Amino acid sequence: QKVYLNGEIIASEDANISVFDRGFLFGDGIYEVMVQLENGIFYKKAHLDRLQENLDKIGIDFDVDTLYPEIDALIEASGLSDASCLIYMQITRGTAPRKHSYPKGIAASVMMYALPFELPYINTKNMKAITANDFRWHRCDIKSISLLGNIMTNEAAMIADCDEAVLIRDGKVTEGSHTNIFFVKDSKVVTHPANEHILDGITRKVLVQLCKELDLPLIEKAISFDEIPNTDEAFFTGTTTQIASIAQLGEHTYYDGNDIGPITKQLREAFAKLKD
Ligand code: PDD
Repeated sequence: QKVYLNGEIIASEDANISVFDRGFLFGDGIYEVMVQLENGIFYKKAHLDRLQENLDKIGIDFDVDTLYPEIDALIEASGLSDASCLIYMQITRGTAPRKHSYPKGIAASVMMYALPFELPYINTKNMKAITANDFRWHRCDIKSISLLGNIMTNEAAMIADCDEAVLIRDGKVTEGSHTNIFFVKDSKVVTHPANEHILDGITRKVLVQLCKELDLPLIEKAISFDEIPNTDEAFFTGTTTQIASIAQLGEHTYYDGNDIGPITKQLREAFAKLKD
């Protein structure tokens, strides 16, 4: 396994990061996940632009444009040039003695790896999800490497033998532990507005655009927890999930748990064409 670390592509066993790295000490960093499919990296520029925006939000001084050739070199060195693969990237503020304030004049730490990856759930599986209290902070728009709230709720879903946790804040559905969520109600597509309570997913953005192209009315508004049983369809979106139909959400079952709603199906087919 090869990794990219601060300008070098090396064996993962040889990659060392200081214990004083702020990513390790504070979770002070930003990450990004992209997938390479048959036609190259899916929405690469959108992912890298989001990475730059997030670094800017937390004042990490790094120019993401410098990584374009490095990503290509990493994929090649990993023997994945023609393969479906996942690219993980993380940039932390760098290494400095532990102090809460941002240290000046240090270099960011940059780490990336690429792994073979097959897209899951495509037309094969409807997902089951628990609902869970969204006890994360109020800056979920930042793609922070500090993911305790996300992993704790995801683990609760695993313990309940489910695939995902759907988070509820102040009685409103926000997003999944590592996905965005869309509902269909009265032939309208509904998803949480892109504010500080969700991550503005790239897949979410693609779906918003697809709804426009397909003339499907889209409303950016939070569905309340109590409204869930009155929704007609629900699905998750995300880079590693793509579009996954939800069969069961908390106490509510869609389509007897084994079918997929017509609008989810239409969007999924249109989405699949984007990758041709
Ligand atoms: N997760 N919401 C959260 C909390 C996420 O962590 C993610 C992505 C999404 C979907 O975003 P996108 O469509 O840009 O992948 C929404 C990544 C894949 C992860 O943590 O592995």
